[in-house]
Amino acid sequence: MRLKVAINGYGTIGKRVADAIALQDDMEVVGVTKTKPDFEAKMASMKFDLYLAKKDGAELFEKAGIETCGFLEDLLGKADIVVDCSPDKVGAENKKIYERLGIKAIFQGGEKKDVAEISFNALANYDQAKNRRFVRVVSCNTTALTRLIYQLKTNFKIGRVRATILRRISDPKEDKKGLMNAIMPDPIALPSHHAKDVKTVLPDVDIVTTAFKLPTTLMHVHSLSIELKEKVSREDVVTVLEKEPRIMLVSEADGFTSTAKIIEFAREFRARNDLFENVVWLESIAIDGNDLFVTQAVHQEAIVVPENIDAIRAIFGVEKKLSIEKTNRSLRIGEKNF
Ligand SMILES: NC(=O)c1ccc[n+]([C@@H]2O[C@H](COP(=O)([O-])OP(=O)(O)OC[C@H]3O[C@@H](n4cnc5c(N)ncnc54)[C@H](OP(=O)(O)O)[C@@H]3O)[C@@H](O)[C@H]2O)c1
Repeated sequence: MRLKVAINGYGTIGKRVADAIALQDDMEVVGVTKTKPDFEAKMASMKFDLYLAKKDGAELFEKAGIETCGFLEDLLGKADIVVDCSPDKVGAENKKIYERLGIKAIFQGGEKKDVAEISFNALANYDQAKNRRFVRVVSCNTTALTRLIYQLKTNFKIGRVRATILRRISDPKEDKKGLMNAIMPDPIALPSHHAKDVKTVLPDVDIVTTAFKLPTTLMHVHSLSIELKEKVSREDVVTVLEKEPRIMLVSEADGFTSTAKIIEFAREFRARNDLFENVVWLESIAIDGNDLFVTQAVHQEAIVVPENIDAIRAIFGVEKKLSIEKTNRSLRIGEKNF
């Protein structure tokens, strides 16, 4: 039996989750939604059944010559689960509809944690999401921090984590946010919200984060310092990170000198230059006394996609290892072999 999945909101995350679902042999996309009859709606309607996210606007779609199959509620009537990929905070509004119709739902990291019963990361707490009704996949930055910290803490005794997050100002398509030439501490008063968000998945980690917005759209970069509470060598850390397919090691020696080069590699490696993995610079892994230093890059548009697929399977009680392996295989995660 294939799970029938609705995607409410077909933007940066929604279109990627829809394509990833279409690659799975145990689920299918029954439809996606848009509010605006723009080029993204036209392209969506070529691949999937398109529905209106809101009651108004039907005549605008008609005028634009875009065929629609009905409204959100019609779509939800055909689905076993909805992945809400609507803008920040809109998911909480949509939840009222999901509750009324009794449908299971996955929310994204732009929602507050109490939108769902559980905040989710596939590696760190898959089993806690099993058989839940509402699950929130944490944000791109939190997903990357959680994966890395989880992999380190399951292999070594670690203490406090301190991380600086250099955030891309917007996604590449967001022209309305304008062009800028500045670096903004975000927030200026410490700490940033990311540490609190990591604790929604890994409550026992001692973590403080600071964050800055930078005038770039390609990727985020995280600089971490992690206290080691046992003797660990740099090689031990490299081996442990190499073992996890959702962490990709890249080397300066291969020309990976910046996020520009990482994305240039991804343009040849994957559709939409999507990198579902944390991208860790090999040369950044260093130990000084009790402190481990690591720098990673995060493709914000793609990193949460595998987590959404695994969250769907967790909600329907599928075993963790089976789901993660299936997701990794279908999205070719872990295939970079140099
Ligand atoms: N982009 C990232 O870097 C990133 C990374 C991780 C997590 N997230 C989270 O993922 C969520 C979606 O972000 P995004 O970047 O994909 O946003 P986005 O590109 O702006 O896409 C949002 C989509 O939602 C649709 N929409 C608007 N109003 C809606 C409504 N009332 N009900 C249903 N759909 C509606 C929009 O359709 P129209 O265009 O037709 O209005 C659009 O297709 C947010 O919670 C965000 O925080 C984003």
